[in-house]
Amino acid sequence: MKTIQQRTSPLRGEITVPGDKSISHRAVMFGSIAGGNTEITGFLPGADCLSTVDCFRRLGVDIDTDPGSGRVTVRGKGMRGLRPASDPVSLYTGNSGTTTRIISGILAPQPFTSVISGDASISSRPMRRIISPLSLMGASITSVRGNGCAPLRIEGRTLHGITYRSPVASAQVKSSILCAGLYAEGVTEVIEPSLSRDHTERMLRAFGAEIDSFEEKDGWHARASSCRELSARSIVVPGDISSAAYFIAAASLVPGSEILIRNVGINPTRAGIIDIAVSMGADITMLNIRNDAEPSADLLVRHAPLHGVTFGGSVIPTLIDEIPVIAVMAAAAEGTTCIRDAAELRVKETDRIVTISENLRAMGCTVIANDDGLVIEGFGAESGSSLKGSAIHTGGDHRIAMAFSVAALIAEGETLIDDEHCVEVSYPGFYRDLNAL
Ligand code: S3P
Repeated sequence: MKTIQQRTSPLRGEITVPGDKSISHRAVMFGSIAGGNTEITGFLPGADCLSTVDCFRRLGVDIDTDPGSGRVTVRGKGMRGLRPASDPVSLYTGNSGTTTRIISGILAPQPFTSVISGDASISSRPMRRIISPLSLMGASITSVRGNGCAPLRIEGRTLHGITYRSPVASAQVKSSILCAGLYAEGVTEVIEPSLSRDHTERMLRAFGAEIDSFEEKDGWHARASSCRELSARSIVVPGDISSAAYFIAAASLVPGSEILIRNVGINPTRAGIIDIAVSMGADITMLNIRNDAEPSADLLVRHAPLHGVTFGGSVIPTLIDEIPVIAVMAAAAEGTTCIRDAAELRVKETDRIVTISENLRAMGCTVIANDDGLVIEGFGAESGSSLKGSAIHTGGDHRIAMAFSVAALIAEGETLIDDEHCVEVSYPGFYRDLNAL
């Protein structure tokens, strides 16, 4: 349990948020099946990424981690070099949907059997979204309990390429299929309705895979050709914009604040939070833009009055993980915020439409929970009333814990976060960094 008091002084100073979670996972996964050593700097030592490290160690890969420095060396085994400790091999993915779904695409074509399990949240998240397309490629994947969720039993098979129209814009689904596609005969293509984060495409290309991506009238296409070998290369992981989002919100909301967030990844498939925050009136200046394989910038954020907005459609995948903290910004903004086309929130670490709306209501906010989004009545600076400190039920969801810790800074009185340790999934030093400003 964590108690947070309303903030009475502005947030000031500089922070560097930890490395991007999505890129850290991929660097370990692709490094493991590449030939040669992948040197990673800026790796996120959060529980989710450590689950990925643990899985690949069990598959016979030597991985040196130095969590303090963010340096990781992956001694790649090559595409056909994974050697499990046992057959079947048991892999535990903890709370990590990214590990569970993407590793399934890598394991489906291996010449051994794997059983993947995770925590209670993972055991209730939908896996048919990867079981179906991988099965169409020839994979043998069964949900052990027959409910379409983990544990999954994967018996290695020879795969063939498919063209798959994904009903959801999901980078985990896309990446799982593309990874399987590297091993499959022929060409594998995924068509998604909106463009989801493209870290897999960027990194696999950098490792020498033939990956095409383009937009057509029917959606966003990503195509992988069958691949003999990937070549290791150094990966520099920028700061995670999903972690920076809490500080963008905190500095925007607490009067008088001015902070500099250094080295934040601004890949356009992830940067929707900046566009939406600015459209709400946030004062964000991008400095030192660096156009590396993954672009990054420093973000200068100053307090500003916010107003409600309506958004949905193709921006949603670019800010899906930031909706909890955007909802908190909306609660403090002038007017109404309408979030649409975000039904994917229902299948995250918790049903976030429920966890966001219940916790905002506990803080005194008027919220309508729709099937695919939220309508939030903001208090606004002029209303004379504000969020009330309250008991927050995170459901063990790291992003709910961090978003409502930001809400606590502007809520009257005291807010209690029931399980602050869940932030370790993506941001182990979150409270230390928040207290330092
Ligand atoms: C992720 C993709 C997103 C995101 C998750 C990380 C990834 O999930 O919510 O936190 O690294 O590929 P979906 O692909 O299911 O949308």
